[in-house]
Amino acid sequence: MTGRARFWLAHDMDLVDIFPAFGLRIECGPVTLRALRESDGPRVAELAAEGIHAAESRPFLRPWNLEEKQPLTSLQFYYRTWASMTPASWTLMFAVERDGLVVGAQDMMTESFPVLRTAETGSWLGLAHQGRGTGTLMRQAILAFAFDHLGAAEMTSGAWADNPSSRRVSEKCGYVLNGYDLKDRQGQAVRSNRFVVTPQTFIRPPYEVCVTGVDAFLRSMDLEVTP
Ligand SMILES: CC(C)(COP(=O)(O)OP(=O)(O)OC[C@H]1O[C@@H](n2cnc3c(N)ncnc32)[C@H](O)[C@@H]1OP(=O)(O)O)[C@@H](O)C(=O)NCCC(=O)NCCS
Repeated sequence: MTGRARFWLAHDMDLVDIFPAFGLRIECGPVTLRALRESDGPRVAELAAEGIHAAESRPFLRPWNLEEKQPLTSLQFYYRTWASMTPASWTLMFAVERDGLVVGAQDMMTESFPVLRTAETGSWLGLAHQGRGTGTLMRQAILAFAFDHLGAAEMTSGAWADNPSSRRVSEKCGYVLNGYDLKDRQGQAVRSNRFVVTPQTFIRPPYEVCVTGVDAFLRSMDLEVTP
C-alpha cells in the first residue's frame, strides 16, 4: 500500500487539520472570536436580518445585509472567502460571542502579509448587542491576536464620516487618523476615514487575550513570526 493510500484510509483527520483557519479562537473576557464555520451561517444570517443599523444609516459600502437574496449571498461570500485563501491573500472570519451567545462578526483581511505585515479589519454587531463595549473588546481582541501572534506591524480600519460609533471604537483602541478616501456609497459621495494602529499606539483590553490554533494556522499560511 502506498503512503498516499494509507493517508486516505486513516480516518483520523478532522476538517481543522486540513483547513487550520477553522481552528482559530480568540478569547478576551466575556467576548470570544471563534472561526466562522458553515454551521454558523443560519444564526449569523438571522442576526443580520434582525437588524445591524437604523433604517436611515448606511455603515457598509454595499448594503449586503438588506439584500433580498440574504442569507444565500452571505453564505456564498463565506464559501468564496474560504475557497480563495492562500498565503498571498487571506481573510479570517470570526463569529463573535458574548457570554456564549453569537452577537456579531469580526473579519480581518490582508494581502502580501509576510512582506507588508498589515491587515484591515471590519466588524458588525446585531443592533440589540451594540453600545455595551462589545465592539471595542472584539476589536482589541483581533488587534492583540494580529500584533502578538501574527507579527503585524500595523492594522487599519475605515469608517464613514457619518459612523461615529465605529470611529469611537477605533479611538478607544488607539488608532490615529491616516487620511481619507472619497467613495461612491450607494450613489452618494461620502468620505471614508482611514485609521491606523501600531503596537506602540494600541490600547490593550482590560482582559488577557487567549488564542488557540495559531501555530497550525501560521504553518498553513507559510508565515514565520519572530518573537
Ligand atoms: C461599530 C460597532 C461594531 C461598535 O460596537 P459597539 O458594541 O456598539 O461599540 P462600543 O459599545 O464598544 O463603543 C461604541 C462607542 O461609540 C459611541 N457612540 C455610539 N453612538 C455614537 C454617536 N452617535 N456619537 C458619538 N459616539 C457614539 C459610544 O458612546 C461608545 O463610546 P464610549 O464607550 O466612549 O461611550 C457597532 O455599533 C455596529 O455593529 N455598527 C453597525 C455596523 C458598523 O458600523 N460596522 C463598522 C463599519 S464596517
